[in-house]
Amino acid sequence: MDRHEMFLAVNPVFATAKGCLGLLRHTGIKEAAQLAEEIDLTVKGSMKTPPEISRVYMISNEARYHIGNILARESGCDVIVDLPCGYVPRGLAIADMKKTFYGFDLPAVIEEVEPAIRKIATKEQQKYLNYKAVDATNYDSMKSALSGVKGKICILMDGLLGYFNEPELDSVCKNISRLLAEYGGCWITADKFSLESTVVTYNALTGADGEMIRSMMLKGGAKVADIAQNHTVIQEGTPEEAKKFFSGYGFDIREISYADKVPDLLSLKDSPEEMSALREAYENIPIWIMTVNKEKISDEKKGKEFKAEIRVEGSRLICELEGRLDTITAPDLLTGFNDNMTDDIKEITVDMAETEYISSAGLRVLLSMRKKLSGVGNFHIINYSDSIKEILGVTGFDQLFGMA
Ligand SMILES: C[S@@+](CC[C@H](N)C(=O)[O-])C[C@H]1O[C@@H](n2cnc3c(N)ncnc32)[C@H](O)[C@@H]1O
Repeated sequence: MDRHEMFLAVNPVFATAKGCLGLLRHTGIKEAAQLAEEIDLTVKGSMKTPPEISRVYMISNEARYHIGNILARESGCDVIVDLPCGYVPRGLAIADMKKTFYGFDLPAVIEEVEPAIRKIATKEQQKYLNYKAVDATNYDSMKSALSGVKGKICILMDGLLGYFNEPELDSVCKNISRLLAEYGGCWITADKFSLESTVVTYNALTGADGEMIRSMMLKGGAKVADIAQNHTVIQEGTPEEAKKFFSGYGFDIREISYADKVPDLLSLKDSPEEMSALREAYENIPIWIMTVNKEKISDEKKGKEFKAEIRVEGSRLICELEGRLDTITAPDLLTGFNDNMTDDIKEITVDMAETEYISSAGLRVLLSMRKKLSGVGNFHIINYSDSIKEILGVTGFDQLFGMA
């Protein structure tokens, strides 16, 4: 299994970001076109999109990209954390503002995007650029990626929250509130409204009802990311419910609208009527600027280092997991498993006595381990805590693993 195959096996959600650069390259943003030359943008399993819909996706992506940059400029922070940075050239725009840029994303993206960006960045821009592999559900990965940073940080989040299940969303909110309590600064995101923004873009540009775009995007994203559709407050809550949910993590929310910030878009430079229709439609798309109220947040202790102890006893493979099983750590488990798995193994036992947390990447690896067994019923998860049981229950994996 090569590294790319490993990344795809653990968490293929990174592939969703290639489409964003694929769209941005056609807008007239010079750096996006340059970057697209450096990166292989083919995405296995992506769906063919009719041209009029691709145009809508392109325009809404361009709007989101510029709005993010403008808000970063106005954030009052010298350090901008783009979480997730994907493959877009935001780092170069932030470097031009003479702000320090941290591009955070899964290892699969960082390994590909960093060398490509560095190839096209000027000497001056290079000084401001940092790219770090993190998992947003893993606090320690982000904390160590920020080592040496002093002063306030602006966490810019575009296109992430919709990919999480409930326990993952819970971790991410806790992690960001801890980071902001420590560094100060803000969390800027319109993720609750990202589908909405594309729906209204379609509506403003074509005059037609944009609802079918919503299901197309959900299906397309879920197919590339290979995830079941999530049912969190991001997909299913009202804006009021979502605000209440976030304030439960200590966030105070200030709301502005897309229309307040959207500049004249390059992709609509020959079409001022469409630009003004879009601006009007964006009045109803909120962006949240969140700060943390320190008194409202709880303190979490540092997690245990991840370990996967794997041994074979006769025809049985035993795997003891310690710490957090997430996108950062799951490759270790998969490698250890592949090294030990043979046709003689008839039974697998995963001992989770010391496992603190499991994300969908971890669940994916457990599932692929189970699939390697020819007979069913010989895959056991033992000694799991109530919180792991809850995660498995919420995601429906308890049924798959015969634990329900
Ligand atoms: C739709 S893309 C958006 C990327 C970028 N902001 C853009 O606008 O092009 C989603 C990104 O989320 C990243 N991602 C998914 N799960 C993540 C996690 N747990 N931690 C950090 N990044 C994650 C993926 O790797 C992917 O790059």
